[in-house]
Amino acid sequence: MGDILHQSPDPQTPEELYRLYRTLTEQLRGQLSQIENDKHDLEVQMLERVGNLESRNLELREQLRQVEADKRYIETQKIRYEREVRKLKSESEQLRSPPLIIGTITDVVDASRVIVRSSAGPRFMVRSSPTISAEELKPGVRCTLNQQSLAIVELLPTSFDSQIYGMELVDSPQETYSDIGGLEVQINEIREAVELPLKSPELFIRIGVDPPKGVLLHGPPGTGKTLLAKAVAHETNAHFMRVVGSELVQKYIGEGARLVRELFDLAKKKSPTIIFIDEIDAVGASRTEANTSGDREVQRTLMQLLAGMDGFENRGDVKIIGATNRIDILDRALLRPGRFDRIIEIPLPDEKGRLSILKVHSRSLTIDEDVDLGEVAKQTEGKNGADLRAICMEAGMFAIRKDRPAITQEDFLAAITKIRVDFHRGLEDVEGVMFA
Ligand SMILES: Nc1ncnc2c1ncn2[C@@H]1O[C@H](COP(=O)(O)OP(=O)(O)O)[C@@H](O)[C@H]1O
Ligand SMILES: [Mg+2]
Repeated sequence: MGDILHQSPDPQTPEELYRLYRTLTEQLRGQLSQIENDKHDLEVQMLERVGNLESRNLELREQLRQVEADKRYIETQKIRYEREVRKLKSESEQLRSPPLIIGTITDVVDASRVIVRSSAGPRFMVRSSPTISAEELKPGVRCTLNQQSLAIVELLPTSFDSQIYGMELVDSPQETYSDIGGLEVQINEIREAVELPLKSPELFIRIGVDPPKGVLLHGPPGTGKTLLAKAVAHETNAHFMRVVGSELVQKYIGEGARLVRELFDLAKKKSPTIIFIDEIDAVGASRTEANTSGDREVQRTLMQLLAGMDGFENRGDVKIIGATNRIDILDRALLRPGRFDRIIEIPLPDEKGRLSILKVHSRSLTIDEDVDLGEVAKQTEGKNGADLRAICMEAGMFAIRKDRPAITQEDFLAAITKIRVDFHRGLEDVEGVMFA
């Protein structure tokens, strides 16, 4: 604008002045509209920028939220891992700590001095940890000992040997009285002596007699002694503990007696209980001059057994069933009244018995109508239940070999011969049979 003022000569006349005024006004107006335009552009631009920034802001905020969530997740993850690490560390520490010796307290001298017997045998006078209260320190309690100082680290709960738990039958056996052929008298007798006192003790109280404490089954091998005990277990709801005599014979001195004691303790705790000691001659053989320390250990176990049996009440709900093939070598002390009061002989089956055993074992077999089991029973004089079962199975094998639809009499006869030949070959120079 100044240019125009400078370029144009000074207005001389009012017309010139007016023209100048007009041009100047026009120019100013043009510049003003220019500025207006610029301003509008600028505004649009600014709005656009603001819009962009706003959406960017939203985006960033969203990202922030995401990142924060991630952070939280990672933090919890971290806490979890830390916990895991701590656990693993303590676990590995535990694994690295030396084993503790198991011992039994035998005497408490005073609150801090205790005599223990370590599991290895020797006895030690040791200190006890101050964390253990003095009342709990009692003879007979099991404890753990530090390896170096043998100080008592902690007391263990009184527990039974795992072997004892193994003797308890959780699932009752499948055998029932109907699986036993013959032996009706014996079944009755054992039911009366074992089942009845457990099921209806009031009968005995009314009459005033003491039911038998224990029942001893004896007889030749394979005649169904174990089977009978299993059937009793099946038919009564009592706990059933089964132990084979030889399991009670242990390597270390006193262990067998301890097992017997724990067996009886557990039986009492879980009563009503039936304890079945199979092959009782392994621990119950008569006490002759004991020469080896092994013999003496077996005797100690027997004495514990006798003491344990004396410890039960006749009217109590723990019953003992023993089984043996060798009643002749059993210690008389076991057989006196008050221990095994009822002695049941399970003889070799007679012809009638053999027939019913054959019937039991052929129940599940497919047998031809013409088969005469009575004849089979007649021809198997001297055979026991186990033999008869084997005969039934062998007859089945013959039928399979001949590809027959059912077992015939011929198969049975062949089986009898086979069993006789097989067994006689194996038994030719064996005098008596001790175990079955
Ligand atoms: N009286 C019987 N009735 C049915 N089966 C029997 C009889 N006696 C023996 N057995 C058969 O013989 C097997 C062995 O008998 P078991 O009871 O173990 O004899 P043990 O008297 O030597 O303990 C039994 O599992 C059963 O199959
Ligand atoms: Mg047996």
